[in-house]
Amino acid sequence: MAGAIEIFLPFTLMCTAIWACEDGQVDHLTARQSLDEQLQANSYPANPWVFPYYYNIQPRLPFAGYADAARIPFYRKSPGYFAKNVNDGYRQEDRLGFGNLGANLFSSLFTLPTRPFRPFANLVGRMDACTCTSSSGDAGICTSALACSLLSRKPSGSCNLGRVCCVDVLATCGGTVTLNNTYWQSPSTPVSAPSTCALTVRLDSTLAEQALPICQIRLDFVSFTTAQPTAGTCTDTFQVSGATTVAPTICGNNDGQHMYLDVPSSASTPTDVRLTFNFAAGMTTRSWKIKIALLPCGTTYLAPTDCLQYFSAASGRVKSFNWQDVAGTATRQLNNQDYNICFRTELVSSQRATQMCLSICAVSNGGDAFSITTPTSTDAAAATAAVVTATTNLAKAQTTLTNAQATLATAQTTLADAQTALTNAQNNIAPTQAALTAAQDALATAQDAVPVAETALTDAQGALTTAETDLATAQGTLTDARTALNKAYIDLAAAMAAIPPDYAAIDVARAALTTAQTAIIDALAVVDGAQTVANTAQTNVNNAQTTLTNKQTAVTDAQTAVDTAQLAAVNAQTAVTDAQTAVDTAQTNVNNAPAAVTDAQTAVTTAQAALTAAQTAAANAVASAAALSGVGTSAIVNGVNTATCLYDFLLISSAQDSTNVEADRYCGNALNPATTPIATSVPVCTPIKPFRMTFQTDNTEEAVAAGANILPAPADTANTGFCLDYQEK
Ligand SMILES: *[C@@H]1O[C@H](CO)[C@@H](O)[C@H](O)[C@H]1NC(C)=O
Repeated sequence: MAGAIEIFLPFTLMCTAIWACEDGQVDHLTARQSLDEQLQANSYPANPWVFPYYYNIQPRLPFAGYADAARIPFYRKSPGYFAKNVNDGYRQEDRLGFGNLGANLFSSLFTLPTRPFRPFANLVGRMDACTCTSSSGDAGICTSALACSLLSRKPSGSCNLGRVCCVDVLATCGGTVTLNNTYWQSPSTPVSAPSTCALTVRLDSTLAEQALPICQIRLDFVSFTTAQPTAGTCTDTFQVSGATTVAPTICGNNDGQHMYLDVPSSASTPTDVRLTFNFAAGMTTRSWKIKIALLPCGTTYLAPTDCLQYFSAASGRVKSFNWQDVAGTATRQLNNQDYNICFRTELVSSQRATQMCLSICAVSNGGDAFSITTPTSTDAAAATAAVVTATTNLAKAQTTLTNAQATLATAQTTLADAQTALTNAQNNIAPTQAALTAAQDALATAQDAVPVAETALTDAQGALTTAETDLATAQGTLTDARTALNKAYIDLAAAMAAIPPDYAAIDVARAALTTAQTAIIDALAVVDGAQTVANTAQTNVNNAQTTLTNKQTAVTDAQTAVDTAQLAAVNAQTAVTDAQTAVDTAQTNVNNAPAAVTDAQTAVTTAQAALTAAQTAAANAVASAAALSGVGTSAIVNGVNTATCLYDFLLISSAQDSTNVEADRYCGNALNPATTPIATSVPVCTPIKPFRMTFQTDNTEEAVAAGANILPAPADTANTGFCLDYQEK
């Protein structure tokens, strides 16, 4: 019991001493609160960003014709929560720096009769406001050495009243932070890759150690080294999630950089903000040390809403993430940046600053203090498009030439083939004509044989007729003889039948019979002879007929042969004519082709010259675009349509150079046109308040191809980002 009282006693002392060492923080808060209330009562917008000077700002007309996001006023949250209700509950948790040991120790030892005693509400809530700087430069809180060890923190250096500067350092992945000013640093063993290392920052005003509602986190990258980007894109990434502020993904070297992250008040909405490193495969140094400050709602030192970076001194240095003073052409500018950098309006010589001026910071190691992607001017875009057209035209002309040459070669081949065909056709005529003559001769011969055969047939037919007549006569004679024989038989029979027989008549009848029989024999012989003659004549007629038929067939065949031969002869002639026509056509083609080849060659030469001219024009346009990269408002300067800083730019509203040329967007080497031999600064000043810049880059350092509503941009890969010294005046 006695020991515990000893532990607590210094806290009471310390907390009475805090306000002195913290330079009247309460007074600030009270003053600020009453001013805000007063301003609200007078209907001015509550915009503590420019506190306490903003209410005199004269609105400035925007530069005509140029939309500028920076000129859209934006208001920060209304004044926050000033008084911690001492009766707020306290929840005991086992989390970073608070073992059950400490919580139980305090909560079990102290209980006041009138209200429960909440040691952490006092101990931590106020203790966190009582900061010190350790011997190694880290922020800590002044506590007794025993309290520091109870909180699992690291004592480093001493405070007054015998206390130590107690520092909270976490060197692991996957932890949760709830204490103010915790340092998160890389583990002592080298980071293996690929890997992820994340930290959760838990904001919840019901936690004992978060006595005040938190509205903002400030990350200070005491040190920060990861792999360099590849063409502007981070391979190792550091990302923030869970905050209202959209923080860009960063990588590379970011020592000394900071980020403000807005969160909803932890009194109303407990929030986990996650900080995540993703390391890509590959050997490279990865180390970091990030101070995580939890900023109470309503304090004067909060950054205005949407300001990722916030500067609250009259002058200082502001750099893009990963900018470093190193020589070389490596791309250090990061892709996908889109954040606001804000500057509090300060008193300069007791007067409210009226302008903020920016100039490149001095370099000593060959770094380039201003190098943001070189823009594309309208001229350069047109020239680039002309190169594309000229290239297309050259390709077309070359195709035409190739085609013409192919046509010539084809025509020559065709001519040779046609000439061969003509020779063949001509050679074919003689044989076909010889065949025709032979066929015609054969026809004549066959035709000659036909009349002979016809005569022979006629003769045979005549003989046949004669023989047939003779045969008929002989048959008539035979018939007569038969008739006579029959009569002789009848006469004989009649003579023999007579009584008495008439022997004389019989003899006569027998003689007549004999005569008749002889006549029959003779007539038969004559008929046989006539028949033979008739048969022979018939055979002759048949033979003659066959011969005639054969001769006629021979004539028909010979005629067919003649027709065929004539057709062949005609065809051969036609083939010659056709072949001659083909030869003539091929010859014409051969004659014409060289002219086409010559024309095509001329076209190629012309197209090549056009391409060269377009390339020269493009190079000149790109060069002049680079030289004129400073002016972001589209305008004709020296006859060239100047850059519009379309893709990557630093936006400084209505900034003016020493010659009063006004612009908003800066890119290329606008503020640093000559890095060698001596860097040239083109300082600019802006009267637009609140003082603010916006840095924006697109997602690539590669060329942007032209498209519908897309201006092309050349690839531009050696950008460094910016390092500027600012000064309020
Ligand atoms: C945390 O520490 C910072 C100083 O680093 C201080 O301004 C702030 O008020 C502290 N936050 C709380 C909640 O006490």
